[in-house]
Amino acid sequence: MMPFTGTGVSPPPVWLMRQAGRYLPEYRKTRAEAGSFLDLCYTPRLAAEVTLQPIRRYGFDAAILFSDILIVPDALGQGVRFVDGEGPRLDPVRTLEDLSRLALSRTNDKFALICETVERLRQELPRETALIGFCGAPWTVATYVVEGRGSPDQSAARSWAYRDRDGFATLIELLTDASIDYLCGQVSAGADALQIFDSWAGSLADDEFERWVIGPTAKLVREVRKRHPSVPIIGFPRGAAAHLDRYVAATGIDGVSCDTACPLGVMQGIAKGGTVVQGNLDPLLLVSGGTALDHRIDDICAAMSGLPFVFNLGHGIVPETPPEHVARLVQRIRT
Ligand code: CP3
Repeated sequence: MMPFTGTGVSPPPVWLMRQAGRYLPEYRKTRAEAGSFLDLCYTPRLAAEVTLQPIRRYGFDAAILFSDILIVPDALGQGVRFVDGEGPRLDPVRTLEDLSRLALSRTNDKFALICETVERLRQELPRETALIGFCGAPWTVATYVVEGRGSPDQSAARSWAYRDRDGFATLIELLTDASIDYLCGQVSAGADALQIFDSWAGSLADDEFERWVIGPTAKLVREVRKRHPSVPIIGFPRGAAAHLDRYVAATGIDGVSCDTACPLGVMQGIAKGGTVVQGNLDPLLLVSGGTALDHRIDDICAAMSGLPFVFNLGHGIVPETPPEHVARLVQRIRT
């Protein structure tokens, strides 16, 4: 199992965000067999297969459940589609009336399929490989729910939050409560640790960061812990290096995943305070490879040596990544 408390081990454990995905030929083959991306997520046999592919190839210390953060709005009835080459599309939720059509009671079958994938994985994975379950943080999921797609500046969600704070809070609460059930289901099914992806945490500051990032994340952590007191929970507030101390202190998470732009000095400071730090190689260095990749891996490992640390990227692997660069990374960390 990966160390989530105490001092660092050498070499550090390693896994990569989006380690299952289009850069792997075996993923593309299984994805074609499944049909759509969502069919892949909702077919436990195939979702388990793609989760295991990078473990077989590289022997990572952790596997991350293959799924998506938009399963929660899909399970709530929002009608999520993934358009090839364009990304996710959802029927936008812009009013309280739109919001009233989403309901937690309809979540069960879809969550059950994802939990079945977790069960299969815990049986098939080597005991020493940690299985990480996950969800999107309520704020980040809300940005897709409101916009109906990805957006560069999350303007639809930010605008709603300013215009009608109580209405937007209702949406956040709905997503938080559904995510609590979803994460608890994953732990009951065999997940060893959880990660909360807040990819758009960096678009908020001060009171808004407190209200929409810290508050809902703290509630998620608190409620999951009531049912599963010992499960380690990692937060990934991307773009929020300036708020990391506050995020760590106020949410109660056990580990924090740092993005590509987070200075190593900031990561060291947090790890010295006893929180496990994960990060933060630039996924684009994994595309370019060469000595620049080797040097950055060495710099990150040297900076975090002796501290509670898990090697990861600062964001997900991109499809252009040559698979042999990933092999080179794992070998370099372990020798
Ligand atoms: O990390 C893993 O390997 C586990 C699986 C995982 C996926 N998405 C698979 C996926 C996880 C943890 C996610 C999280 C996710 N999904 C986030 C948060 C992390 C981040 O990247 O910021 C977000 C914002 C999403 C929403 C999402 N899903 C988008 C915007 C897209 C389209 C982008 C693209 O690359 O096409 C997806 C699709 C998606 N999720 C793919 C994968 C492997 C590609 C789908 C395909 O096979 O066509």
